[in-house]
Amino acid sequence: VDHLTEAVFIHDDQDDQGRVVDVNQQACDSLRYSREELIGMNGFDYDALVDATFMRSIKERLARGEIFSFESVHRRKDGTVFPVEVRVSPFSHGDHQFGLAVVRDITERKRAEEERERLRQLEAELAHINRVSMLGELASSLAHELNQPITAATASAKACLLWLEHNPADVERARAAAMRIQNNGNRAAEIIQRMRAFYKTGAPPQLESVDLNKVAAEILTLLRSEATQRSILLRTELAPQLPHIMADRVQLQQVLMNLMLNGIEAVPAGAGELTLRSQSTKDSVLISVSDTGVGLPNEKLDQIFNAFYTTKPHGTGMGLAISRSIIEAHGGRLWATANAERGATFHFRLPVEGQQ
Ligand SMILES: Nc1ncnc2c1ncn2[C@@H]1O[C@H](COP(=O)(O)OP(=O)(O)OP(=O)(O)O)[C@@H](O)[C@H]1O
Ligand SMILES: [Mg+2]
Repeated sequence: VDHLTEAVFIHDDQDDQGRVVDVNQQACDSLRYSREELIGMNGFDYDALVDATFMRSIKERLARGEIFSFESVHRRKDGTVFPVEVRVSPFSHGDHQFGLAVVRDITERKRAEEERERLRQLEAELAHINRVSMLGELASSLAHELNQPITAATASAKACLLWLEHNPADVERARAAAMRIQNNGNRAAEIIQRMRAFYKTGAPPQLESVDLNKVAAEILTLLRSEATQRSILLRTELAPQLPHIMADRVQLQQVLMNLMLNGIEAVPAGAGELTLRSQSTKDSVLISVSDTGVGLPNEKLDQIFNAFYTTKPHGTGMGLAISRSIIEAHGGRLWATANAERGATFHFRLPVEGQQ
C-alpha cells in the first residue's frame, strides 16, 4: 500500500468527524505531514472544500454502503493546495465501520483540461476573426444587396400613397403596393439576420439538425451581389432532398462561405462560373464547390490547407485551415481536386445523423 501512487486514508466511520486512523506513504508525501500527524486528523484539516453538510452526506452514503467519487481540493501542511479526485468506499472490520478514501492528484489532468479549453477558445476566436473579415470583404456588395430591397420598398411606399390619394382611392392597388413593401422589408431583414449570425462570437458549437441545401441557399443570398459585380455566374445543382445532419449551422455557413469566396477570388477578372453541388449517399452528404478559376498546382494540393498559407496580398491563409478543422470536428472530410479543364473543386463529406 505504501508503494501506491494514490494516497490512501482510512477513516473511522463511527467517529463523528470521521477521524483518520491510518494513511499510506503517498498520503504523507502529498500532504507533507508525517503519518503520526495525519492519524487523528479529519477531513476538515486537509480538505479545503469539505464542510459540515458535505461531511454529513458522505457519512450517510457510506452508511448506505455506497461507493462514490467526488472532486475536491487538498491543502498541504504549508498551506498550498492541489486538486484531487477522491473515491470513497465503506468497509467493516469485525463490527467496526470504516471509510476508505483513495485520493488521486489531478493537477496534470486539470492543467490539460484548461489548456484544451484555452485552445478551443483561441480556435473559436480565430474562426470569429475569419468570419468577420469575410463580411468585411463583402461589405460593399452587401451594402448593395441591402440597398435593393430598401429602394424597392421606398418606391412601393410612394406608389401606395399615390393610390390612396386617388379619388376614389384605389384600395386594391394600394394593398398590392403595401404587400411589396412587406416582401422587400422581409428580404432586407433576412440579409441582416444572416450577417448577424456571422458576427456571433466563439460560443461552443451548437448542434442542431441542419439541411445543407438551406445553408447553401443562405450563403447564396449573401454572395449573389459579389458574384454579379465580378460577372461570375453562380450555378447550383442541389439534390432535391438531402438527409439532415447534426451540425453547427453557423460553422457550416462559414465553411461554404470560405470555399465560395475562394472560388470567386480564383476567377480572374471577367467571366467565370462557380457551381455549388449537393449529393447524398446512404450515410453521408457530399457538397462540392467548383470554379473555373486559376486552378491548383498539383504539388500545392495539401499545402493550401495549412494555416497562414496564402497567395493573396491581403489573405490571412486561415480560410481553408479553419474550414477543414470545422468539417473534421463534425466527423467529416474536406479535400480539393483539380478540374479536368479549368479551375479547382473543393469537396466535403459529412456523416448523416445517427451514422457518426
Ligand atoms: N478555389 C481556389 N482556386 C485556386 N486556388 C485556391 C482556391 N482556394 C484556395 N486557393 C489557394 O489556397 C490558398 C489558401 O486559401 P485560404 O482560404 O486558406 O486563405 P486565403 O483565401 O488566401 O485567405 P483568406 O481566406 O483569409 O482571405 C489561397 O491563397 C490560394 O492560393
Ligand atoms: Mg480564403
